[in-house]
Amino acid sequence: MTSEILDRSLVLDAVRVTEIAAIAAWKLVGRGDEKEADQAAVDAMRTALNDLDIDGEIVIGEGERDEAPMLYIGEKVGKPSGKHKIDIALDPLEGTTLTAKAMANALAVMAWAPKGTMLNAPDTYMDKIACGPGYPAGVIDLDRTPGENVQALAKAKGVEPSEITVCVLDRPRHTEIIASLRAVGARVYLITDGDVAGVMNTANPETGVDLYLGSGGAPEGVLACAALKCVGGQFQGRLVFRNADEKARAARIGITDFDKKYDLHEMVRADAIFAATGVTKGALLDGVRVEGGFVHTHTLVMNSATRTVREVRMKRPI
Ligand code: FBP
Repeated sequence: MTSEILDRSLVLDAVRVTEIAAIAAWKLVGRGDEKEADQAAVDAMRTALNDLDIDGEIVIGEGERDEAPMLYIGEKVGKPSGKHKIDIALDPLEGTTLTAKAMANALAVMAWAPKGTMLNAPDTYMDKIACGPGYPAGVIDLDRTPGENVQALAKAKGVEPSEITVCVLDRPRHTEIIASLRAVGARVYLITDGDVAGVMNTANPETGVDLYLGSGGAPEGVLACAALKCVGGQFQGRLVFRNADEKARAARIGITDFDKKYDLHEMVRADAIFAATGVTKGALLDGVRVEGGFVHTHTLVMNSATRTVREVRMKRPI
């Protein structure tokens, strides 16, 4: 692990970037067009990043260069002479469907870490398990069954398995996981999209979620790790490959062990800054709101180096 940490003055810069992306996406809330909403957020985020005194490289972005014209993996943003040399993980609009349908929990999300310290994850699925802070190391493990993980977490928490709530993406591929969780009596909190927020729920007692389980995007896994790194908690992820092409993508970005189980500190190897601004209102954040000629935003920004968690409310004329 590197001891290098990011300049704390970057915290407010990060907030500005996710605010701008969230406002751009918000204009498309409920309009039924996922792609347009995503593009608006991408354009806004890219412009904001290029304004900063950073020499940044996108390690988690909109996809590979041939499929994403902007904010693709490997794209440089900021300026080569930029003061801060950083890796950037971003999802300008996490929850494109949520935005298009005006549903809760869409976010503009970004994480920064010193150059060369974030996992360059391919755009594949990842099996994920996560819990919040305060448990002994190793309390959860991807190689155990969902039921065993619930039992271990319940024991560590000093409660019955029936008092454990597990957040899972509502997908047919999770039918067995859900059945295994319910078989040991756990409560299952289903979400339709947005597993960065799903993982973050485990660290927010107000949600009542103790555990996150299931497969979702690998890039979202890295973003969720950056968030958990700031507040504590445990995470394990393993890439899931559906075909040879996906393995080839992983190989191109330097992955050699296709079965590796990554933990949080292997995915984000140094201290990170994480920012998320609500696009639509959700469990973590309020959404963008326009009232009386002003636009209002709500952002969570965290710095793992100092374990600082801030909520920033911004108001400015439209
Ligand atoms: P988008 O914002 O890119 O649409 O992603 C939403 C999301 O729900 C992620 O949070 C999650 O990791 C992924 O999609 C799950 O993928 P799938 O919808 O294919 O199950």
